[in-house]
Amino acid sequence: MTILDGKQTSAQIKEELRVEVEERKRKGLKVPHLAAILVGEDGASMTYVNSKVKSCKAIGYDSTLIRLDSAISEEKLLETIDELNDNTDIDGFIVQLPLPKHIDEQKVIERVHPEKDVDGFHPENFGRMALGLPTFIPATPNGIMELLRRYEVPTEGKSCIVIGRSHIVGLPMSILMGLNDVPGNCTVTLTHSRTKNLKEICQNADILIVALGKPEFVTGEMVKEGAVVIDVGITRVPDETKKSGFRLLGDVHYDSVAPRTSFITPVPGGVGPMTIASLLQNTLKAVKRKE
Ligand code: GUN
Repeated sequence: MTILDGKQTSAQIKEELRVEVEERKRKGLKVPHLAAILVGEDGASMTYVNSKVKSCKAIGYDSTLIRLDSAISEEKLLETIDELNDNTDIDGFIVQLPLPKHIDEQKVIERVHPEKDVDGFHPENFGRMALGLPTFIPATPNGIMELLRRYEVPTEGKSCIVIGRSHIVGLPMSILMGLNDVPGNCTVTLTHSRTKNLKEICQNADILIVALGKPEFVTGEMVKEGAVVIDVGITRVPDETKKSGFRLLGDVHYDSVAPRTSFITPVPGGVGPMTIASLLQNTLKAVKRKE
């Protein structure tokens, strides 16, 4: 069994980006600038956004964090997005999700200019991804593809089961794994809350990608011997022995599943760190597209 080490791989990608930014600076080219909008005070979202900003600093990018009150109107948020769309120094930006209930998330996603949509959530970019055209690929799926690529995990002709159809992870993942590419060329099944016989379907998976947000949902008896298991879950569960007061649990019951696999991502240190590396890669892509 090989552990797909997202922490180490993302550190490697960030180092590659740092070197490239240094070279850009030497050549007088533009330094990538990523902005993030964070609405409200959700603990997990604050952690993610802070680590995105910190990673920018570490590799020499410019970054801007815009914090807005959770009571902000949809109109005001859309105005802030317009300002970032018009700001020529900012190459790409994200609006951290989820948003408060009174704001229409889809409206927000569609307001971001596709050329600055480093999350790859805009329908134009999502459509381009589905067609295999050059675009921004959403950060978490792109991070998973990068892990599979760098560890040379065989995917061609394999049966790939995805659990969860979120627009951020499950749905794009199912599309990418079916494209005629490397990694890719899988026979894909996208499963969700209405799927019947999920256990039997999982047992047939050569590659199992779990992104439903239920801690330790996938157990050993659901996994075929030799399968590749990608765990996208990161649920905070209370833990008084930790300084933070919580620990992170994946969607996969690691102890019963790992011994059966050929490759597996741990939680933490698997998919999570790859997401940030992908966002940074997309931001550099946004700058280069303009050159
Ligand atoms: N919330 C959870 N994952 C993501 C992500 O990749 N991008 C944004 N904007 N919000 C998220």
